[in-house]
Amino acid sequence: MSKRIAVIGAGPSGLAQLRAFQSAAQKGEEIPEIVCFEKQENWGGLWNYTWRTGLDQNGEPVHCSMYRYLWSNGPKEGLEFADYSFEEHFGKQIASYPPRAVLFDYIEGRVLKADVRKWIRFSTPVRWVSYDAETEKFTVTVHDHEKDSTYSEDFDHVICASGHFSTPNMPFYEGFDTFNGRIVHAHDFRDAREFEGKDVLLIGASYSAEDIGSQCWKYGAKSITTSYRSAPMGFNWPDNWEEKPAVTKVDGKTVYFSDGSTRDVDAIILCTGYKHFFNFLPDDLRLKTANRLAAADLYKGVAYVHNPKMFYLGMQDQWFTFNMFDAQAWWVRDAILGKIDLPGDKAAMLADVTEREEREEASDDVKYAIKYQADYIKELVAETDYPSFDVDGACEAFFEWKGHKAKDIMAFRNNSYKSVITGTMAPVHHTPWKDALDDSMESYLQN
Ligand SMILES: Cc1cc2nc3c(=O)[nH]c(=O)nc-3n(C[C@H](O)[C@H](O)[C@H](O)COP(=O)(O)OP(=O)(O)OC[C@H]3O[C@@H](n4cnc5c(N)ncnc54)[C@H](O)[C@@H]3O)c2cc1C
Ligand SMILES: NC(=O)c1ccc[n+]([C@@H]2O[C@H](COP(=O)([O-])OP(=O)(O)OC[C@H]3O[C@@H](n4cnc5c(N)ncnc54)[C@H](OP(=O)(O)O)[C@@H]3O)[C@@H](O)[C@H]2O)c1
Repeated sequence: MSKRIAVIGAGPSGLAQLRAFQSAAQKGEEIPEIVCFEKQENWGGLWNYTWRTGLDQNGEPVHCSMYRYLWSNGPKEGLEFADYSFEEHFGKQIASYPPRAVLFDYIEGRVLKADVRKWIRFSTPVRWVSYDAETEKFTVTVHDHEKDSTYSEDFDHVICASGHFSTPNMPFYEGFDTFNGRIVHAHDFRDAREFEGKDVLLIGASYSAEDIGSQCWKYGAKSITTSYRSAPMGFNWPDNWEEKPAVTKVDGKTVYFSDGSTRDVDAIILCTGYKHFFNFLPDDLRLKTANRLAAADLYKGVAYVHNPKMFYLGMQDQWFTFNMFDAQAWWVRDAILGKIDLPGDKAAMLADVTEREEREEASDDVKYAIKYQADYIKELVAETDYPSFDVDGACEAFFEWKGHKAKDIMAFRNNSYKSVITGTMAPVHHTPWKDALDDSMESYLQN
């Protein structure tokens, strides 16, 4: 086969794509040449932790939005690879909310076994992609930082797996420019100990606000205030944690809220989410979407309707992660291998997108949203040879997780769930999350 495929990014989504092609090759199928461009020195995407913030050693924007002491915020039973269980990787069942280093090791284990590292060009950011309608080829221009050289190569397909939780959404509030303290976005937050003994305000009411606030609480912040724009998170917070409505302005160290109340704080952490940002793509190839379950302009959630030779992975908001990326990667592989036919006309692809959007918008219910994404995974898995697994069972783990959070937000990570891949129950972790200050893999695996 003379086709060439470019994969942009070697995070969980890009690695799923490499594993999908390798799995076909392992079964004796002929596969195209795969070239994966990764701007970091190593794989793992967001899970590849760095202490750096701002620009990296090559002057590239730091990709990592993860921080020290980050543990999975959902049960691992909801994300387990169907072709590579936690038990296969660790040789035993492990507790349900692994810290970042443990999940990095698991992600890495599968692709080491698949031997796909040779397909990746590291320290090589993609600078630009263009499409020539006459030759039907993409030209991908990259910078090799090791050789300090820029070059271009042609490809038949481009699969963009560059993630969408790395470019901060940074709102401005009156008084930020004269605030007497530190203002930082969640993307640049690294070590909660920096805020020990401090009064901290987090703006936002989603996962980053909840988790970074919890980290600061765990590692000794004096008080936590979270501010919501739409709705409070509404958990049973510890005594030194208060939820306030929207910030209206800041004056010195004093923050004003829309209910007329004020609070003096030492630091402000913007947990205001991220932007889909692709500065290496021209208008005709660039995805423009909100962070939602039915991403705009993607047929089956992956094929770009305006040029279906271009694919995107992992661009949806995420209840499911690794197993959803797998379902997408196997589907994209089969579309490229000609085993799945895409509709011939754009209208049919757009109709698919509209149907997904309308179905997403039919309910605000959280369980509905989880099931919606589960159904999407089932739909894709049914069309490929990705090992089918009990997606509804994974939903049940998410439903239990939601209940455990509502019961005790500082203790939900002490619960365990059953693997839908091996059927084994996870052990209860040896130390309650709030007391487990050592998040090393060695410590976590001591069950
Ligand atoms: C703070 C935080 C915590 C999270 N915690 C969890 C969790 O506990 N559990 C969970 O399941 N999910 C979690 N997630 C969700 C996360 O999105 C997924 O787990 C996963 O990392 C997404 O994989 P990805 O490959 O799509 O994107 P990413 O992990 O973002 O990887 C994208 C890759 O593309 C590379 N890249 C980007 N631009 C270029 C370019 N121009 N050229 C070359 N390479 C490029 C990047 O360097 C990176 O390696 C979290 C997300 C955040 C932000
Ligand atoms: N431990 C972990 O595993 C962990 C930790 C952190 C994050 N994550 C993951 O990271 C991803 C991103 O989560 P996120 O919380 O960063 O982003 P997010 O889910 O997109 O939430 C963004 C939040 O910011 C608010 N917001 C946006 N603009 C605002 C503005 N101008 N003023 C005030 N508030 C504003 C939003 O409010 P509205 O609702 O009003 O729009 C929302 O509450 C998720 O997938 C999450 O699971 C995981």
